Amino acid sequence: MDYKTLKPFPKDFLWGASSSGYQCEGAWDEDGKTPSVQDCMPVVPGTTDWKVTSDHYHRFKEDIALMAEMNFKEFRFSVQWTRIIPSGDGEVNPLGVQHYHEVIDECLKYGINPVITLYHFDLPQVLQDKYGGWTSRQCIEDFVRYCEVCFKEYGSKVKYFLTINEQNMMTMFNMGGYKTDKERYQANHHMLVAMAKATIRCHEMCDAWIAPAPNITCVYPLTSSPLDNLAAMDYDQLRNRLYLDTIVFGEYPEAFAEYLKQRGAFPEITIEDMAVMKAAHPDFLAFNYYGGSTVRYVSEEEGMKIKGTSDWAHMDMQGMMTEPGMAMAAKNPLQEQTSYGMGIDPVGLRITLRQLWERYHLPLLITENGCGVPDTLTEDGKIHDDYRIDYLRKHIIACRQAITDGVRLMGYSPWSAMDLVSTHQGITKRYGLIYVNRDEFDLKDMKRIRKDSFYWYQKAIASNGEDLD
Ligand code: BG6
Repeated sequence: MDYKTLKPFPKDFLWGASSSGYQCEGAWDEDGKTPSVQDCMPVVPGTTDWKVTSDHYHRFKEDIALMAEMNFKEFRFSVQWTRIIPSGDGEVNPLGVQHYHEVIDECLKYGINPVITLYHFDLPQVLQDKYGGWTSRQCIEDFVRYCEVCFKEYGSKVKYFLTINEQNMMTMFNMGGYKTDKERYQANHHMLVAMAKATIRCHEMCDAWIAPAPNITCVYPLTSSPLDNLAAMDYDQLRNRLYLDTIVFGEYPEAFAEYLKQRGAFPEITIEDMAVMKAAHPDFLAFNYYGGSTVRYVSEEEGMKIKGTSDWAHMDMQGMMTEPGMAMAAKNPLQEQTSYGMGIDPVGLRITLRQLWERYHLPLLITENGCGVPDTLTEDGKIHDDYRIDYLRKHIIACRQAITDGVRLMGYSPWSAMDLVSTHQGITKRYGLIYVNRDEFDLKDMKRIRKDSFYWYQKAIASNGEDLD
């Protein structure tokens, strides 16, 4: 609906931006750090590796000073398990612990709230080798122990923790390379229990708020056919509700659970697991949003053909987004797209905010949203990224509309504070407000340069979202 006037952003609205450790820190083997599964991931041909990235590990003070200049109220970043406990399950590494104390203190110096992601795809490789990572129940205990170290060390300084980033993408895109769906959903279940236990321990150990951080989006039916509508509803369970109903209500969404059972893919669940999931209560919901998702119904037979050998290693996106007998992803002819094919859909953000608020009634924090495209550094040292400004402006207006709808939105933390390396499309696909002067293979001087979007966002924050021109 249209309104005559929009409500203002709350006075304590958390304006800022996000990053993740393995994508921006570099220093991949420094100060005791061991490789994570992300560091060991085969590099997509034509793109950089994970060794240096944006060198934020060494330049965090300069980066945080620039964030302060932009008037940030929060900075979302991830702690790398492999720095804190390099063996995954053994000794705590004082140098790793100290590093994040320094990052947190630097944020606090400027009045920036650190929002800490505890896990951003980066399982210690050593645990993957030792017992198959999340396929083993042992991973729950090791993850919770690592979280406890973070709560003990940082819990008195940090108000907001996020447990696991985009668990749903890891599962849907089979980032763990699991051989069967049963194994994939078993690993997923272990993560759900780990997340619930970490949530409980956070509340026992500190005053901070804690939330999951999946990638959530509304699901559109490709056509108005009843079957496509049903497919959208089902896909919503698979993509969104499996990761939120479980942590908020302690329950698997019923139709999707039955779908998995009938295909022999439902995980082994103990009574204790369900009790833990019921006992955990997140304080808010964090979520990443890039664009609405569109699906159509697909029969079992057609879906099986499309699915083929899909997994993250084969980069067969269409295959990975097909569920035989349920739904498959479709291109939405009414949705704008970036040059990398990612949807641009601010209305979808408003819908998603509404759906989350109406379902769960928990405060919401947008922890990712952004425009990943190549930028051009002009001869006079500028980056005129009006496309990014346009993207951010439209999404911030959608946030304000959702607030007027009644949604309790805590903050907006787009991807990303500075340029960093994309999950599989290198550093050419840039999201940052701060430019990092390097190319895919030439590290150049890594100089930080303020993009046009930097100045625009600075003004937007200074006016608490009123001045978006
Ligand atoms: C999210 C992740 O999936 O989207 C980030 O949490 C990621 O790690 C971001 O970088 C953008 O996706 P991509 O593939 O363009 O890097």
